Amino acid sequence: MGNGESTNLDSSDDPRYAGFPAGFFDRADSSSDQNFYSEPRMVTHIDKEAIAAVGELYQELQLRGRVLDVMSSWVSHFIDPPNDLVALGMNSTELAENRQATSWVKHDLNMDPRLPFEDDSFDGVVCCVSVDYLVRPIEVFDEIHRCLKVGGVFVNSFSNRCFPTKAIRGWSQTDDRGHVSIVGEYYRLTGPWDNVRAELRTSPSTSGDPLFAVWGIKK
Ligand SMILES: C[S@@+](CC[C@H](N)C(=O)[O-])C[C@H]1O[C@@H](n2cnc3c(N)ncnc32)[C@H](O)[C@@H]1O
Repeated sequence: MGNGESTNLDSSDDPRYAGFPAGFFDRADSSSDQNFYSEPRMVTHIDKEAIAAVGELYQELQLRGRVLDVMSSWVSHFIDPPNDLVALGMNSTELAENRQATSWVKHDLNMDPRLPFEDDSFDGVVCCVSVDYLVRPIEVFDEIHRCLKVGGVFVNSFSNRCFPTKAIRGWSQTDDRGHVSIVGEYYRLTGPWDNVRAELRTSPSTSGDPLFAVWGIKK
């Protein structure tokens, strides 16, 4: 590996990766995520309706208590934020601007998928429009499961756009249905998770950004 490059581990020793085609977790830009995310982006990555759909889902799932927002930025999209929201992401300026977060941590999940948190220490975990950037999703899902309390929910939401050079190839080369299947597969291969569900949370006739969500409960 050259200087500043991050790992693209479809060659992981973990046998749970064996079902994915070669190159599935490669990215067009395999350089360190530190470089790509070094400049703050005070933008939103989905439109207002899709953001509202994320907030409504979080309300419905009753995300309260201590919640972790992984792959977070300056916004976390809660309508009614939990008492204690920990934001984990790549850009300190963005994370420090997150008004809903009560604390934040800069951590590169592609360099080190281990989460710097205790076992059973969160009531819920959310990941918004970001699961497609994980090159070691199985280890990250394992870690999220470890950090969740039994009965806690882990919810992923995503749309149909991304930073194309940073998304894994397996994501870029499929459609909405494929994206739901990929995330569902991550839950199937980790856990155990209960009641894994996938839904389109925006209107099927929207001309705006669609919002898909897949979530499961720690058994
Ligand atoms: C499209 S943005 C989404 C931000 C936020 N979740 C939202 O809903 O607006 C992708 C986010 O993933 C985070 N991210 C990308 N690669 C990451 C990595 N290797 N480890 C941790 N976070 C990462 C970035 O910091 C960035 O904030």
